[in-house]
Amino acid sequence: MDSYLHSYTASISDPVEFWREAAGHLDWFEPYDSIAPPEQGQRHAWFIGGRVNACHEALDRHISDGRGDEPALIYESGYRSASEQLSFRQLRDTVAELAGCMARRGVGIGDVVLIYMPAIPQAVVAMLACVRLGAIHAVVFGGFGPRELSARISLARPKLILTASCGLEPGRVVPYMPAIEEALALADHVVPRVIVWQRPECVATLREGRDEEWQEAVPGSAPAPCHGVPAEHPLYVLYTSGTTGQPKGVVRDTAGYLVALRYSMRAVYGLGQDSVFWAASDIGWVVGHSYMVYGPLVAGCATVMYEGKPVGTPDAGAYWRLIDRHRVNVLFSAPTAMRAIKRDDPEARHLTATELPSLHAVFLAGERSDPDTVRWLEERLRRPVIDHWWQTESGWPITAICLGLPPTRPVRHGSAGMAVPGYNVCVLDGEGEPVPAGDMGTLTLKLPLPPGCLMSLWDDQEGYRRAYLGQYPGYYSTGDGGFVDPDGYVHVMGRIDDIINVAGHRLSTGELEQVIASHPAVAECAVIAIPDTIKGQVPLALATLKAGISQSPVEASREVLALVRHDVGAVASLRKCLIVDSLPKTRSGKILRGTMRRIAANEPWSVPPTIEDPSTLDYIARILEETSSS
Ligand code: COA
Ligand code: AMP
Repeated sequence: MDSYLHSYTASISDPVEFWREAAGHLDWFEPYDSIAPPEQGQRHAWFIGGRVNACHEALDRHISDGRGDEPALIYESGYRSASEQLSFRQLRDTVAELAGCMARRGVGIGDVVLIYMPAIPQAVVAMLACVRLGAIHAVVFGGFGPRELSARISLARPKLILTASCGLEPGRVVPYMPAIEEALALADHVVPRVIVWQRPECVATLREGRDEEWQEAVPGSAPAPCHGVPAEHPLYVLYTSGTTGQPKGVVRDTAGYLVALRYSMRAVYGLGQDSVFWAASDIGWVVGHSYMVYGPLVAGCATVMYEGKPVGTPDAGAYWRLIDRHRVNVLFSAPTAMRAIKRDDPEARHLTATELPSLHAVFLAGERSDPDTVRWLEERLRRPVIDHWWQTESGWPITAICLGLPPTRPVRHGSAGMAVPGYNVCVLDGEGEPVPAGDMGTLTLKLPLPPGCLMSLWDDQEGYRRAYLGQYPGYYSTGDGGFVDPDGYVHVMGRIDDIINVAGHRLSTGELEQVIASHPAVAECAVIAIPDTIKGQVPLALATLKAGISQSPVEASREVLALVRHDVGAVASLRKCLIVDSLPKTRSGKILRGTMRRIAANEPWSVPPTIEDPSTLDYIARILEETSSS
């Protein structure tokens, strides 16, 4: 029997029955009353009435099942010869101790704890300790600067911050406390307590009365038990870039997410317990939440955490050695990482040195996988290389080639696979009508969304409805454009809004523009994405200066780049800010970002009929063409 077709059809025709079966694998503290999510537009949560605990699912239940001594977390560093392995029991005991310490400091059910940490085991411990107590974690990527951090503090209003003294990047140590101090000073919320994991590379100075050293505060704390929470209790809030200047707080429910992740580990990745899963990401991103922490652990797999880069720490063989050493079964990475490895080791010399007998497949996500890179990898690995599509909001893959649902469909280069059971992918035109197979349109998901997808936006139920459900009644709008070919393969061609993907990191051009506009010399600015051979896209800024500014364009441009690097973080990868005399606009004053983007990407473009002054566009086109050829 074709189990993909069977599962897919069942998931769409009778979602309640389909997810009832999947939910049977959870260790419920109390059974649910109803399975289906409430009416459209309400908070999207499944299994109402049930009670669970995500930490129990991830750790304690495996210990009860007699698997306490099996490996749960494997950590390796690319920066120093550090490696650590924790069994389910060791991880549970460490988590319970931190949870006990937090409980003694007043953290309880529903409180928000902000986690600002690098990819080290304590970050996983921090996340699981929160959910053990029923507290809600808000993880902020360690590469974000003070402005981004402060916005998240103001929005999430945490009771406690868990952090580390520093992160490590190639050739430098990144101290975290200065960013926290600056963010707290900017935020409109006071965080009374900060617990800091001190790392040997940089010992943070602590502020008396507010800060505590983790290594002193936590050991010896009475271990806290798992607190059963309602199915729809928020497990976490994760801020991601939206189309406005403000980050969007994606709220995840507990039970639906656990059911979906557990299902995906088997159906999508083809893994059962005792497998080793490595998502080469960071806990600051959704991939880190779903597949460095919850997915593998809930499924009883060991999860690998790597603090390092695909290249340069120390070389392009780092990934292959790690897979070999820890017998990784599935690697989840981003196309940008593979392009970086291919650039540094085009002949894959590092790869042929090992055989990687454990590896079943490589999954890629974060941006469209370019066929050249996929082909290169397939030829070297001789294993399936699977592009799959998802977003922070979905929490788990929308499309993939499902390895656990045979017969496995062949990979089709340029496509992100087929709809995963639970997701009804529809391509709609501007009027909300379905388009014929093969035609481009907006990629939407017919409601109801499967379990695991975002429940709402933090403190903004109306914003959730407006952003995702308002455009096409009855459908969730993904913000991506693409098509479904006649065989059912989904092709995701890129965002149809102002979000850009830089090395797999999601950034909003609006947010970058806000920072640039805050420079005192800048009158107007626009940020567009331009193609980059390794990072996929990088931002390019164009700015005009205020009249009467004495600063030279070169100096202003340098300061703008430094400002973005400091406020947003180096991950923004803004390397160029062109100071121009004017920006092309429509007669209603809208900057022609789309046209500039097409010019910069060497795509066909035309002069929009609504243009205010065609000569400004000619002028900018010349500059952009010179820039792209330089
Ligand atoms: N803390 C502080 N700074 C950070 C950081 C962090 N957590 N993460 C990145 N940065 C800095 C980097 O040091 C770099 O600074 P630089 O401008 O001084 O060199 C800058 O931000 C850009 O970093 P990055 O995007 O990592 O680019 P890179 O040029 O250092 O490396 C790649 C290029 C392709 C190797 C890298 O982007 C990569 O590994 N990408 C894969 C990402 C990924 O797997 N994402 C998964 C999402 S599913
Ligand atoms: P994030 O929320 O950071 O995970 O980014 C989600 C966005 O990344 C999606 O909306 C897409 O634009 C893009 N994306 C993720 N995976 C893919 C993929 N496999 N193919 C094309 N785009 C992708």
